Amino acid sequence: MKPLPSRAGSFAPSYLSSFARTCAHGTVAAVACVAALSGMPAHAAEAAKPAFKPDMARAQKLAEPCAACHTADGSRGAPANPILQGQHADYLFKQLSEFKAGKRKNPIMQGMVAALSEEDMKQVAAFYASKSAKPGFAKDKTLVALGERLYRGGSLAAKVPACAGCHSPTGGGIPSQYPRLAGQHADYTEAQLTAFRGGARANSPQMSAIAAKMSEREIKAVSDYISGLR
Ligand code: HEC
Ligand code: HEC
Repeated sequence: MKPLPSRAGSFAPSYLSSFARTCAHGTVAAVACVAALSGMPAHAAEAAKPAFKPDMARAQKLAEPCAACHTADGSRGAPANPILQGQHADYLFKQLSEFKAGKRKNPIMQGMVAALSEEDMKQVAAFYASKSAKPGFAKDKTLVALGERLYRGGSLAAKVPACAGCHSPTGGGIPSQYPRLAGQHADYTEAQLTAFRGGARANSPQMSAIAAKMSEREIKAVSDYISGLR
């Protein structure tokens, strides 16, 4: 077995470095150390950031404090708290880092992510993304036709583009570009569109421009339609 390079502690990615130091001091079985540090050739690891590896046991632990509002698996909780299960990991990570950076403002969520590292945020994002989304139901029969029209075709008069164009016809979104909307609580979607429109949520110029052109009635209608979309 090859001995570990003496500089193990200095080139290991930060989240491994204490482990690597333990390895160098020989207090952990050498086999485990080599296994943990393998796949990281010294030259490559020196420059590159560690490749992200989902670790579901750790991710689930990190998501424990979130369960009070988002449920244990990110499924349907109170209508003000977004459903997270089945959402794309890249989108979730973007939101968590933007809460942390103050780019998306929400006192509760800014507090919740304050202690999470970038790696932690990737882990919880991967956790919720690994669960499958469940369908929901629209509630307001009087508005659902308007909602469907907007979602599928937009509004020519108001120059609102079709939501389906980016969020896909099923509302499943497109991983790494457009979030899943389908099945989301109507109250949450409505609150977000209103926040984009009024500037309270300013982390997406695209969505701000779109929501700016929507009436309150259109926002209500499309939000209800989205909650039943599948
Ligand atoms: C006390 C309730 C509460 C707790 C606990 C909580 N959240 Fe939230 N979360 C919310 C609310 C409310 C929002 C909507 C914020 C807004 O309106 O912008 C939200 C939004 C989010 C979003 C954005 C979703 C989207 O579709 O854009 C993510 C991601 C998220 N929370 C993840 C987490 C994680 C991870 C934790 C645990 C570390 C957590 N939340 C803990 C209430 C909570
Ligand atoms: C040009 C592409 C595009 C179109 C068209 C579009 N969206 Fe979006 N939408 C986005 C992007 C990108 C985001 C992610 C914003 C972010 O990163 O914070 C988003 C986010 C959202 C969110 C926030 C989701 C969440 O979980 O918080 C809602 C709600 C939403 N869009 C609704 C709509 C509706 C309703 C329409 C149609 C009226 C629409 N979008 C049309 C690109 C688009």
